[in-house]
Amino acid sequence: MCGIVGILGRGPVVGQLVASLKRLEYRGYDSAGLATLEGLHIKLRRAEGKLRNLEERLRYCPPEGHAGIGHTRWATHGKPTESNAHPHATENVAVVHNGIIENFRELRAELERDGANFRSETDTEVVAHLVESYLKNGYSPQDAVQASLPRLRGAFALAFLFKGHDDLLIGTRKGSPLAIGHGNGEVYLGSDAIALAPLTDTITYLEDGDWAVLTRAICVIYGADGSVVQRETSKPGVSSLLVDKENYRHFMAKEIHEQPTVACKTLAHYLDRSGERVALPLTLPFNFSSIQRISITACGTANYAGHIAKYWFERLARLPVEIDVASEFRYREAPLRRGDLAIVISQSGETADTLAALRYAKSQGLHTISVVNVSTSTIARESESVLPTLAGPEIGVASTKAFICQLMVLAVLAVAAGKERGKLLEIHESNLVRELIEVPRLIAAALLIEPQIEKLAGDIADSRDVLYLGRGTSAPLALEGALKLKEISYIHSEGYAAGELKHGPIALIDEAVPVVMIAPYDELFEKTVSNMQEVAARGGKIVLITDAKGALEATLDTLMTIVLPEMVANFAPMVYAIPLQLLAYHAALVRGADVDQPRNLAKSVTVE
Ligand code: M6R
Repeated sequence: MCGIVGILGRGPVVGQLVASLKRLEYRGYDSAGLATLEGLHIKLRRAEGKLRNLEERLRYCPPEGHAGIGHTRWATHGKPTESNAHPHATENVAVVHNGIIENFRELRAELERDGANFRSETDTEVVAHLVESYLKNGYSPQDAVQASLPRLRGAFALAFLFKGHDDLLIGTRKGSPLAIGHGNGEVYLGSDAIALAPLTDTITYLEDGDWAVLTRAICVIYGADGSVVQRETSKPGVSSLLVDKENYRHFMAKEIHEQPTVACKTLAHYLDRSGERVALPLTLPFNFSSIQRISITACGTANYAGHIAKYWFERLARLPVEIDVASEFRYREAPLRRGDLAIVISQSGETADTLAALRYAKSQGLHTISVVNVSTSTIARESESVLPTLAGPEIGVASTKAFICQLMVLAVLAVAAGKERGKLLEIHESNLVRELIEVPRLIAAALLIEPQIEKLAGDIADSRDVLYLGRGTSAPLALEGALKLKEISYIHSEGYAAGELKHGPIALIDEAVPVVMIAPYDELFEKTVSNMQEVAARGGKIVLITDAKGALEATLDTLMTIVLPEMVANFAPMVYAIPLQLLAYHAALVRGADVDQPRNLAKSVTVE
């Protein structure tokens, strides 16, 4: 994962490099570093931990070079120490890398035999030594990179800076994203357009296998075979404002509270409100009646959104759905039917496994739709149709508002499918649309329970384990609740379909285990209450999330009963997600965890 940036500037570039790295920190924050050309020499500045540690180090003696590269790291090979921080440099070249060099061991052994002296445990350092070996043999920087690239296996985006070459950057990509930014007498490389947004809005995306030789005046892009290629330059219109927390303590809190607004905005994009009709913003290149099966792939929270959507597509459109975690889908060689539909869901649009799943589906002749939040992302660019979630930038590592907007888009799509397949009459459509229109208001009402959740967080924050249970669409929501809690508070938590309780997880229950029961008052409510009885009989501490009717009917002692507004059950997950997000947030606060940048994680997972 990792974010990379490179700049050939008209003045000192350190400030620009750091500003771009700040915008890339969502890709990793284990260490950060930069290399600049000071006079003719490469100067490295690196620091373990968050970018602010590097900034601290730069404060007293900022480098003055006009050419530089920078990196923010999510550790793959080697601990997150300063010596493993990028850039990695030899005498004549410095490199930053996003991805994994799979054959680094054999390359390292070969280079060490030839006398190279390695100073880190990373896979990346082999790239610097490999290019250096060609430079030492009299190759030009361009020839040295060209000779090195075919020897690298794996996925990578790389940016190179060369000693004595104040007007040269070389960048390349294979598997990991890299973009060129064009400025006024300046040129940039960055992992994405967002990193470069304060510098330029004119972007050229490299394609897999491309490598580019940049000077302040000219950019030449070569394909893998060494021939010059033309790549389109666009203006993706990414906001240059660095998103801030406004009056919130954390981005996650801000993003949770933005949900009524962004849900409404997303919905407005997909509905004809006055006509109470679904109105997709684009014409899909297929008819849902010709689709026999949908294949959904995604990772993490986006995957749970897909699980919930499976209920909607199957119930509303009578359309079978298969859902996979993207990291497994790509390896199980799923037999797919040409002409069917694959949906990939991703906030970042850069998740490596989801991208690979998309490519596999395309290779099998499926129509592809991506539900993405970043419209300039690789997944958006490579899909046949894009359905954007209009959540705005999501900065907190824990996905909250993107999840709600993914659900919103998928719900609308399921209604559209049901209609096109003749499974929903106009009257059903308008009822469902009216239910969807209510959701932002219900989310706002659900947010009012925050003080109660804050108290609950104090009660559960010392727990060793927490279980989440639900039935129907609340079953995948239970998985999402557990993921949210574990990733930011580090409390072990598991989600299960409530009916599975007696097939194993019930063994975990004792007086110390809080069990969060997600139980809207729907046709499954009674069955969920039976599961609550089973928990109560074993002394488990029940946290019941339901509505007024449910609270009245479940006559059990609970640690806390959280009463949400009453609603028709179809789209309940979008409202019942709110207390789960708030609980995770407040439990993390009580435990003093780093809410927005939890340990070991990154916002965008661009390695397999
Ligand atoms: O950017 P994506 O939606 O593809 O990311 C998928 C997961 O990495 C992401 O949802 C992750 O699970 C979040 N940290 C969950 O809060």
